[in-house]
Amino acid sequence: MNDSPAIPAPTAPGALPLIGHAHRLARDPLPFITSLRAHGSVVRIGIGPTAAYVVTDPALTRQVLVTDAAHFTKGGKIIDALRIFFGDGLATVADGDTHLRNRRLMQPMFNKAHIATRGTAMIDQVRAMVSAWEEAGPRDVYADMNDITLAAFLVALFGTDLPGHLQGEFTTLLPAIMKGTIRQTVLPTWVTRLPLPANRTHAARVARLRALIDEAIEHRSGPDTGPVHTAADGSAKSAGCPHATRTRERNGLFTTLLTAEPPLSRRQLQDEVITLLTGAIETTGTTLAWTLYEVTRSPEIERRLRDELASVCSDRPLHYDDMEHLPYARQVLQEAVRKYGPAWMVTRTATRDIHLGTHRIPEGADVVWSPYLHQHDPEHFPDPDRFDPDRWTPERAPTARGSFLAFGDGRRKCIGENFAWTELQMILSTVLQLWPRMELASRTPRAQAVVTVKPDAMTMTFHRKAP
Ligand code: HEM
Repeated sequence: MNDSPAIPAPTAPGALPLIGHAHRLARDPLPFITSLRAHGSVVRIGIGPTAAYVVTDPALTRQVLVTDAAHFTKGGKIIDALRIFFGDGLATVADGDTHLRNRRLMQPMFNKAHIATRGTAMIDQVRAMVSAWEEAGPRDVYADMNDITLAAFLVALFGTDLPGHLQGEFTTLLPAIMKGTIRQTVLPTWVTRLPLPANRTHAARVARLRALIDEAIEHRSGPDTGPVHTAADGSAKSAGCPHATRTRERNGLFTTLLTAEPPLSRRQLQDEVITLLTGAIETTGTTLAWTLYEVTRSPEIERRLRDELASVCSDRPLHYDDMEHLPYARQVLQEAVRKYGPAWMVTRTATRDIHLGTHRIPEGADVVWSPYLHQHDPEHFPDPDRFDPDRWTPERAPTARGSFLAFGDGRRKCIGENFAWTELQMILSTVLQLWPRMELASRTPRAQAVVTVKPDAMTMTFHRKAP
């Protein structure tokens, strides 16, 4: 602990009695949160009657996430509310032995070699969905990207033979549940416990989701008598599985959790699936929607993406192994992750009085860090509102440690980062391969910070003939 005299953190202007800055967070969260940098490296805001400290200097965020992580535990009002729904899933469970144990258990599920075993099945799923789009009719791209991300994730997690109704029901339930969960995080706890219709509907949806997950778990736990799968292009090499020509698709990444020793309880398996589904879908879906939007805005970016893809795949479908040979696509996706969040507000709780830079944070206080804020820091990302994939070339990429915090850092860093890059690459490349022309049909979308930074409206048309 720093013993130098502490300076109280400045309070952001515009606080109102009782609600503090809640009106700003509700009305214009992104301009508000990025504006805080002008007031100091740690800025005090009011979320209702509760004070929270927003860290605007990435070096101090690193202190919160890495060097002093023991004194900033996962917590805060939002996490407390989310725990009601996520239970003790990896993202919400308190720091400590359970988190450590489950993190160690789940880490191998998401390493590159393990993801590669799911590569072909995921590509087949994505290809089937994207090729089924109808030509020319405006499509809600944000919904499409979330649906495809979810389907690919289910194939990776549970294998290819899940009962058909599960994916459909997951697709309908998840957005509604996320909406209900956000409502619960902003309302006082006692209101969320009243027998109001909205509370009852939310509880019923969560119960249904848990029942569906149970069904998936039962299915996965059954004997392995499922069909043997062959990749669409007949290639097993692209599955990252050099010794087989065909792979049994009933195995998914989830097998790791099912076979854990000591075994996880049914409730815990459910919690982990809920956590993974909610962590994996909207983050990647949103990023993809914004990527496609930026591609439609820039013929030059689109041309470079298509040229790179053609030089690697020529006319054949994408293989899993192709993705590491698409560096420009990776730059475009990284720039989309930077410019559009998608995480914009993450919280911790100070477990004791502690200094952050020259400011004292009192024990028990909520500490907020924002990947979005850091990714719009002009010191590390000049002209931050510009979409510029070339800022990620090896020569230009920011070198300062902690300047790119989209996936967090330290012991609570995103466990799905490798998986996310894989999925982003495969979906973007498949859309480009199957649809030689795409255009924005709606007006310019506005960024809305809810769970992620999502577009308020975004429709596009897709054409099979190049312009
Ligand atoms: C563009 C995509 C994604 C972004 C930007 C993202 C971002 C993040 C961030 C910032 C955190 C850290 C939160 C904190 O510090 O409290 C996190 C944690 C987490 N993410 Fe992701 N994520 C993405 C995709 C995924 C995917 C695909 C999965 C699942 C396969 C996933 C699963 C998780 C889990 C389980 C945690 C909690 C880890 C822990 O507390 O130990 N995320 N993510």
